[in-house]
This record gives sequence, C-alpha cells and structure tokens, in this order.
Amino acid sequence: MTRSGATRGSRAARRARLALGGVAALLLVAACRTPDALRTAPGALPHAESAANGAPPAPAPLPRAALALGLDADELAAIVAHGPWPPPFRPDPTNRASGDPAAIELGRRLFDDPRPSADGRRRCADCHRAELGFADGRARPPGADGRPLDRNAQGLLDARLQHWFGWDGGADSLWAFVLRPLADPREIGTDAGRLAAVLDADPTLACLRRAAFGDPRPSGEALRVQVAKALAAFIETLDSPRTRFDALRDALAAGDADPGAEAVARAYPADALRGLRRFVGDARCAACHVGPAFTHGEFHDAGRPYMAAPGRPDPGRHGGIAALRADPFNRLGPWSDAATPDAAVRTRHVAPSHRNFGEFRVPGLRALVLTAPYGHDGSMGTLDDVITHYSELDTERLHADGEALLRPLRLDPAARAELRAFLSTLSAPQPAAPAAATPSPAVAACRARPGA
Ligand code: HEC
Ligand code: HEC
Repeated sequence: MTRSGATRGSRAARRARLALGGVAALLLVAACRTPDALRTAPGALPHAESAANGAPPAPAPLPRAALALGLDADELAAIVAHGPWPPPFRPDPTNRASGDPAAIELGRRLFDDPRPSADGRRRCADCHRAELGFADGRARPPGADGRPLDRNAQGLLDARLQHWFGWDGGADSLWAFVLRPLADPREIGTDAGRLAAVLDADPTLACLRRAAFGDPRPSGEALRVQVAKALAAFIETLDSPRTRFDALRDALAAGDADPGAEAVARAYPADALRGLRRFVGDARCAACHVGPAFTHGEFHDAGRPYMAAPGRPDPGRHGGIAALRADPFNRLGPWSDAATPDAAVRTRHVAPSHRNFGEFRVPGLRALVLTAPYGHDGSMGTLDDVITHYSELDTERLHADGEALLRPLRLDPAARAELRAFLSTLSAPQPAAPAAATPSPAVAACRARPGA
C-alpha cells in the first residue's frame, strides 16, 4: 500500500512538473514569436524616467495595447499563446486523403448519408449537427437501441488540432476514430458490403472515391479505411470561426507596429477582460486549456463524477490507452500512410498507469456557446454549471495531479459573470455555409478525369 502510494505521489509530482513545463515551453514559444516591434517599441513608459536616473534597467517595454489594458508581461505572453487563429492546415501524414478535395467532398456527402447505416436511417449528422458546432445538444445521444451512449457527442470543430480522439483518447488519428461509429451498431452500424453497395450505386460517390484513392475499388477492411479517411478529410476542414478574443489576441501580438492595435484591444469588453485575466492567472484554467484551441490535448481528472451507469464506472483514459494499443488501425499498424516512423512517436510512447482511471481529454473551449451540454457525460448543462463546478470543486474526487492544478475557486457572482463573459468571447456566430456549387468543383473535376 505504502509503496504504491509513494509511486503514485512521485508520478503525480512528475506529471505536474511535466504539465507546467509544457505550459512554460508554450509561453516561451509565444514570447519568442512576439515581433521585435513589441520589444523595442519606443513610447512614454512609466519606467523610462527612473531608468534615466540610474535606477535598475527598466523591463522590456510593453506594447501600447497591453499597457492600455493594464496587462503585465506574463499576462501578455499567456494571452498571446492562445493563437493565432486559425492555425495553418497541416495534412495528417497517416491519411493520404488528408486535404484532398475529392476525398473531402466524398466525406461531406457520406457524413449526411443514411444509406450505409444498418437501418438505412442513421447518419453521422444526427449526432453531429452543423448548427451546433457538430455536437448534438443532448447530454448523451441515444444509440440505435434507444439507450443513451456512454458519453457526450463532442463538437467536431477544430478536431484536426487534436492528437488523441474521443474523450478517452482511444484512437490516435481522426480516421482510426471514425472506423468506430461506422462499425458500432448503436451508431451507424455499417460494414464493407453495405459501403460497397452504396458506392457502386451512386456514380458521383464512386467518381469521388476513384479520384481520391484510385482504382480498383477495394473491398473489406481496405474499403472501410478509405471511407473513414474520406470522412476524416472532411472533418479536418471544420474550423471554428475567428472570435472577439482572436481580435484582442492579434492586436496584442502585433505590438506597436500596428497603429490600430490599441483601439482593437480597447474594444474588448471590460468584464470579459477581467475573466480572461483570471483564466490565465489565479484560476489556473490555462494550465490545461492552453494553446490556440484552448486545450493541450492531454488527459486530466477535473473532478467530475464518472459513472457510465450505476455500478459501471467509465474508465476514461485508462480504457482509452488499452483500446489504442490493441487497435490494429493505430499509427504503428499497416494502415497508416505515414512515410516515416515519427508520425507514430506519441503512440509508441504511451504507457498506461493506474491514475489514468477517470481522466478525460481536456476539451477545447472554442465555439462553446454552440456545444452545450458540457463534460464527457454532458452532465453540466450550461456554462454556469461549469463555473459552479470549478468554483465549488470537491477535492475529494481528485487524483493527486488534479489537486496540484485545481482547487475550489469560491468565485463571487461578479467573478463568475466575468469568467462567463470571457468564455463567450471564444465563440462567434457560425458563418453561413457557402451556397453549395452544383456540381461542386470536386465533383466537376472528378467527372472531367479520364475514365470517370
Ligand atoms: C448516435 C450518435 C452518434 C453517431 C450516429 C455518430 N457519432 Fe460521433 N460521437 C458520438 C459520441 C457520443 C462521441 C463521443 C465518443 C467518445 O468520446 O467516447 C462521438 C465522437 C466522435 C468523434 C471524436 C471527436 C474528437 O474530438 O475526438 C468523431 C471524429 C466522430 N464522433 C465522428 C463521427 C462520424 C464520422 C460519424 C458517422 C460515421 C459519427 N461520429 C456518428 C455520437 C455519435
Ligand atoms: C487540470 C486540468 C484542468 C484545469 C486546470 C481546468 N480544466 Fe476545464 N476541463 C478539464 C477536463 C479534463 C474537462 C473534462 C471534464 C470531464 O468531463 O470529465 C474540462 C471541462 C471544461 C469545460 C467543458 C467543455 C466542454 O466542451 O465540455 C469547460 C467550459 C472548462 N473545462 C472550463 C474551465 C475553466 C473556466 C477553468 C478554470 C476555472 C478550467 N476549465 C480549468 C481540465 C481542466
């Protein structure tokens, strides 16, 4: 007992150090990326006079936009680390269809197509609705048998920025994850035979598949993998829109080189600014919700209950690691298209530990306004419920490393409102979907190909 307790303690300490090290590294990167203009800008700085009088050298001057908001250098670096947005597209090396227009169009169409499903009625889009950030508004959506699934359906915006998929990280690529809802009888419940029949009966889908993956059409697992890779290529295109936060962040990053920066920064709502300072400051939210997508993509125990059903705990990351290692479609397996082994580094090094029980992937916080309810089981209905959770946190529930980062914040009503105001600046109205060109350019291109 004592021994395992000690091991757990030191592991926890190591993990906390790792987590904080990661944040520090990010901040460092952000600081290094800060344009030179920001560091050398002249201007009427409060310290300038005392420096001239022989006092200790003044710290690097802050840009006028940061001074106008009363931010210090640490706050500035921490805020700038949450961008820029959107990050450039980087194709998934394990998916040769990543970024391919024909594959994206095939995925877009299949996402909304009930024909492959076991009963001919179920679609990905039933549980991932575009107008809800590709979440579905329910705590836990019902499966085909009418019983709720174990977890909340994530919104799919910004999924391309993750490196583990699912709340438990049971898959290490988008396409490997997508194979699961495709096969699961509670979700789509399809198989290679049905997929082949749908593709063969629909000349447009057949054409897009051929353009993306070539002939001949495979069968069996190879066909399921092609369909999953096309769906993943589509999901990779779903970026959440730029927000009021991004305007502030870019103004702060631009420094005095941008004459409009100060006015943009001043336009950010004052209550949201106080919430933001708490978020990157004493509330320590940004220890986990950090980086452009407001998550570091790893797993934590945030003190939420984790019973999937009475007497049946959801093992969270612990089960996810077991699933990932047993998965023949993971990055170490033959279905990955990566040319070099570095694409599988994370997967090779993942190791289970007892403390992973009840850990879940830290969710990103963009487009939150669309994706209620919250948490891995949808048990927090509103942002107010989330804030109450962190305000009144039950530390008895936490693993050791959670404790290192989380403590009840005991926020008063004004502080709660400010945090909520900040979180709401991470969402923006979805831009209206562009009117679909008929036929889409990808379809036209594929029809124009010889042999189409
Ligand atoms: C019956 C509802 C339902 C259907 C149908 C469904 N999903 Fe999901 N989806 C979920 C739930 C619930 C989760 C969360 C599962 C988890 O994390 O364990 C999820 C998670 C995901 C994720 C993980 C996102 C992330 O950020 O890690 C992806 C990707 C996804 N679904 C894609 C699809 C695709 C593609 C289809 C169609 C082939 C589909 N889903 C069909 C309910 C559904
Ligand atoms: C120790 C890491 C950690 C810290 C610190 C942390 N969170 Fe979280 N957060 C998580 C995890 C993990 C979840 C998912 C919890 C679950 O469902 O089990 C989560 C869930 C959320 C959600 C729900 C998002 C969704 O899409 O479901 C919001 C909102 C949120 N956190 C905001 C905050 C705020 C605000 C703070 C600071 C007061 C904060 N978090 C601090 C790890 C953290």
